[in-house]
Amino acid sequence: MTLLAKVLARVRNLASGTHRSPTAPGFAQARFPQAVLDHESKYGFSHGGYVLSPGAEPVYGSVEVEVGRVWYSLMMMLRPQRVLETGTHFGYSTCCIAAALRDLSAVDGKPRELVTIDPAPMPHLWEGTDLAPFIRWVPKLSFDVAKDYAGERFDALVLDSDHSYDTIMFELMAFEPTLREGGTLLLHDTLYFDGVGAAVRQLRENPRFDCVTLPTPRVHHNPPRRCPGITIAHKHKDGEPRLRYEEQYRGWNDGQTLTEPYLWKRTRERFA
Ligand SMILES: C[S@@+](CC[C@H](N)C(=O)[O-])C[C@H]1O[C@@H](n2cnc3c(N)ncnc32)[C@H](O)[C@@H]1O
Repeated sequence: MTLLAKVLARVRNLASGTHRSPTAPGFAQARFPQAVLDHESKYGFSHGGYVLSPGAEPVYGSVEVEVGRVWYSLMMMLRPQRVLETGTHFGYSTCCIAAALRDLSAVDGKPRELVTIDPAPMPHLWEGTDLAPFIRWVPKLSFDVAKDYAGERFDALVLDSDHSYDTIMFELMAFEPTLREGGTLLLHDTLYFDGVGAAVRQLRENPRFDCVTLPTPRVHHNPPRRCPGITIAHKHKDGEPRLRYEEQYRGWNDGQTLTEPYLWKRTRERFA
């Protein structure tokens, strides 16, 4: 092979993403099934929703593509073996998490599983793909299955179901004890839905957790509103102080989505 041919082969190898570092075998695999890529292709950069058929109004059921890709990267970084998700919907976030579980297992050979809970009978993006073996769909409400998981341990929890204060607190109080020390809790819509924001307010004041909340790109349309936001929490310890239902937030749901998110308002009050 001439020197030029060797250089060209090397460049082609890098550009096609097939180059593998010996210390990170398999990481170039980050492949998403075609059904997931097709779903992502319906995403609108300007509003952050999905236009499911030409000319239709955007819908906002799945997390933003950027959030899905963050979920994938966080899972690759944290290397969980068992993950529990509430709020499956079409399974977009589920597929992003499962793709990381698949890619990690391809490297270290360890078994991995994502339990995803949602009673909605939707067509799931993972059906017939190589992600399916990593996913166990539980077609029930979180309220009805929480007791089944009481004695189990998860490395990560991803909570994204109905976004009311009552539901998120139920899920946190039921599933947080199953999260191992050093595990990660991911939440979507913590800035959009004040009921979820109120739950995060408690989490970030609990010394057992470190929390960060970040804005996300979705602005909705007509009129633009608050972004959903994500919260990432690291759990340091089991035990006390336990998470508890705070009566003053009973029934909180989406709040006034044209005003400042509750969480940011609470942060600002610290400086008043
Ligand atoms: C916002 S969607 C989830 C989106 C999904 N995480 C994604 O990004 O693709 C919310 C889903 O939560 C489900 N849901 C609502 N209440 C629930 C509950 N108590 N337990 C489990 N799922 C619930 C709904 O059926 C709906 O499909």
